[in-house]
Amino acid sequence: MDFLLKALEKRKHLLNTENDAVRVFDGLGDGCRGVSIDAYAGSWVVATQGERIEPQLLAELKKQKHSVYWKRLSQSQKESPILLSGKPQDTPFIAVESGVKYEINYQAGYSQGIFLDQRENRKRVLERVQAGDTVLNTFAYTGAFSVCASLGGASTTTLDLSQPYLDWGKRNFQLNGQDPESHFWCKGDTFHWLERFAKKERKFDGIILDPPTFSRDQKGKVFRVEKDYACLVEMASKCLAPGGWILATTNCRKLNDAAFLRMVREGCSRKHQATVYSMPEEYRDIPFLKSVWLEV
Ligand SMILES: C[S@@+](CC[C@H](N)C(=O)[O-])C[C@H]1O[C@@H](n2cnc3c(N)ncnc32)[C@H](O)[C@@H]1O
Repeated sequence: MDFLLKALEKRKHLLNTENDAVRVFDGLGDGCRGVSIDAYAGSWVVATQGERIEPQLLAELKKQKHSVYWKRLSQSQKESPILLSGKPQDTPFIAVESGVKYEINYQAGYSQGIFLDQRENRKRVLERVQAGDTVLNTFAYTGAFSVCASLGGASTTTLDLSQPYLDWGKRNFQLNGQDPESHFWCKGDTFHWLERFAKKERKFDGIILDPPTFSRDQKGKVFRVEKDYACLVEMASKCLAPGGWILATTNCRKLNDAAFLRMVREGCSRKHQATVYSMPEEYRDIPFLKSVWLEV
């Protein structure tokens, strides 16, 4: 299948020993609507919008020598990918991105351990932090941003609702020779923690915001990116040290770059400069990830 080969050829320069976790095929941008392929250390996860894989593509995928898993994109976001061809990858394994190692797990549910669309933002964090900085990673999932901040010399605070994800984050630290016990780990709701940090006047040199598009806290209070992001930025701003930065991102498809930037701006003071970043080059379909870097 010509378009599969062409897509791989275009990403050849991105795949190497320092980088084996990359989106290698991206929907219509690579010639096939609703299909994406993420490579993790040589195996693939093919994601489709629909309930079936086009027969020609399926035949081509089954010819691959490596494992190919299939993930049906769904509203419920629950199912783990299923094996389509090749050897089962039934234990966690390591993938490398920009020289940083991450634990990947095809049995852990809907997401495999890192969101590849954040590749350049992770690199930005690693390059931006300075030894001794304090960095707060909210909605942290498996702590990938924290690992990068720690490798850059920062003291990190990693915050997520889920203890299993925080534990996964600790393993990611260990994979990279970082001691998780010399960093902070907070289980719970980002909004509650931001309030607590503000009350205690605890400040951070860098704060990462990457919330799910919809979330409900224990008291039932709803957060929706398209309505409430400004409020999240405002809360985070109260915990920012002088001269600090905020990385505000979202994959909410209902917002375009301009609308997102407006919301982010609404939540911070005028003295903050905003830089808008586009998605990594290998994302060739309609862009969905919005990223704004705020600093004074
Ligand atoms: C989109 S993922 C974040 C991805 C992460 N920023 C990364 O790049 O790897 C959303 C995460 O937010 C967590 N989460 C959802 N609602 C939350 C809340 N109110 N407070 C803290 N964490 C929350 C989920 O458990 C999940 O790990």
